[in-house]
This record gives sequence, structure tokens and C-alpha cells, in this order.
Amino acid sequence: MSPAPRSTRALRVPMCAAPVNGGRMSSQKLETVKRITAPDIRARKGGEPIVCLTCYDAPTAEIMDPHCDVLLVGDSLGMVVHGLPNTVGVTLEMMILHGQAVMRGAKRAMVVIDMPFGSYEAGVETAYANCVRVMKETGAQAVKLESGPTAPDTIRYLVQRGIPVMGHVGLLPQSINIDGSFRAKGRDEAERARILQSARDTAEAGAFCVVVEGVAEGLAREITEAIDKPTIGIGASAACDGQVLVSSDMLGLFDWTPKFVRRYAGLRQDIDAAVAGYAADVKARRFPAEVETYFSKKPVAP
Ligand code: KIV
Repeated sequence: MSPAPRSTRALRVPMCAAPVNGGRMSSQKLETVKRITAPDIRARKGGEPIVCLTCYDAPTAEIMDPHCDVLLVGDSLGMVVHGLPNTVGVTLEMMILHGQAVMRGAKRAMVVIDMPFGSYEAGVETAYANCVRVMKETGAQAVKLESGPTAPDTIRYLVQRGIPVMGHVGLLPQSINIDGSFRAKGRDEAERARILQSARDTAEAGAFCVVVEGVAEGLAREITEAIDKPTIGIGASAACDGQVLVSSDMLGLFDWTPKFVRRYAGLRQDIDAAVAGYAADVKARRFPAEVETYFSKKPVAP
């Protein structure tokens, strides 16, 4: 077995505020790390823009951690990691597993876990039980809910019981079966007014910030000016207090990306070229070479 690369070994070191001796309390010093908190993000309203990306695994979290304020374990993972057609099939167990991985990789950024479709809409008590499970099992500091009609009551209930909530208005991907497509929202007056009201209700219910997805610049600006919590835009213009993108999109993992995405890397081409090079080397017996091979030690002369 080849030696573990540096970053893999580093990931085995507990990175969050946890006892270093495997959980037993002793006189040994605790390795504590100061993470960005919900009040820190809340205080950024109108200030330095909030940097947020979606993140789904430990090594990527380790890379993103120094650059991002918030790592969102989005339920977009259903589509970009698991190949589902939309986010409706994502389960609580999937969110917890990916949330645990991200928490192991990130030590400074705030980690927020998306609550999946069906885990918070039936009633406030079910929502509370599921959010508590997510927070206890991942160690993440907050959850995100898509702000449908029942969301403000749920957000109020959760916040009053110690669960920081990130809201989400505009295009709500979990409503795909009602909407029929992932189309930008708020294009007619009735829908625009409804989204603005939803953002007001979400902020007033106690959300510490609000994701605004897929709306025109005018509406994003109006929401940002109307509420006293930071807005984090995705496809919602520069008028918001911060920005989030699905990391797989901005890293260029897919052939197609929506208009609002800027690609900062071309991972699809890079991975394709790397795998093609590896396959060619294996077929031509160029890999492994001597430098990549273990040899038995020469017997020492007596
Ligand atoms: O699931 C997700 O990735 C999200 C972002 C698009 C905000 O909700």
C-alpha cells in the first residue's frame, strides 16, 4: 500500500473543537478551533460580501475552508454527486453522511446543512426532531430550509429552540414537481410580490441570512434592501450581500452550466485528460515505472 498523501493524513486529525484523545476527557489540552458563527454572518449585512460555496466531501472542504465564510452542504448533492434528476430523492441520511465529511475537512468556515425535501414540511415538531438529528450527528452549526408557505412558522419554532436557520427564497428546487422546471422566478408582478413577502417573513421569523435564488436584479435588490438579514445570491445578481455557487458548476465539472455561473476551472477536461493519459500508460506498460515500484531489500552479506 502506498504511503498516505499528506492531506489524507491531515484529515485524520480532529479539526473541530474535539478532545484529541479520542473522546475521553483528561488533563490533555483540547484542540479548539474558532469557527465562523451564525451571528458573525448575520453581522455582515451591508458589509464585506459573504463568500459561500456548496461542498460535499472532506478533501474539498479542506481546500475551500481558508477562502469561504460558509460551506453549504446543499441538497444539490443529489444531482451533482449522486446523479439524481432533481433534489426530491435526497434523504436525511445522505445529508448527514456528506455533512460529517465536510465537518471533518473544514475547521474555520461555518458549515450549513440543507434539510432535504420531506424532512421539515409536515410540522414543526418533525422539523425540529430532524434538524436536531442533523446537528447532533454532523456537528454543523446551522440548517437551511426552502421557504415555502409553511416555512416562517417552522423557522420561528427552530430558532426559538436553538437552531440557527438559513432561509431560501425565489427559485425553490424542491418544488420542481409543482413548478415543472428550474426557471427563474419573480418575472410577473404577483410572483415578485409573493417572493418579496416570503423573504420578509423568513427574515422576520429569525433566519440569520437568506439565500435568494434565480431572480432578476431588481427583485434581489428590493429583497436585500427590505430585510435586515444578509442575502446570499445564486443567479440573483450582485445586489445581494454575498454569493453562493454550486461548486461543481464553478469548477467546470459539467459540459453545461446556467447563465449565472462563472467557471473558475475546467475539471471535466482535466479529469478526462488525466484518465485518458493513465489508460494509455497502462495499456502501453509505461505505468508503473521503476520509481513507482517497491523492490525487496537486497540480502545483507554476513
Ligand atoms: O442545494 C444547494 O446547493 C442550494 C444552493 C443552490 C443554494 O440550495
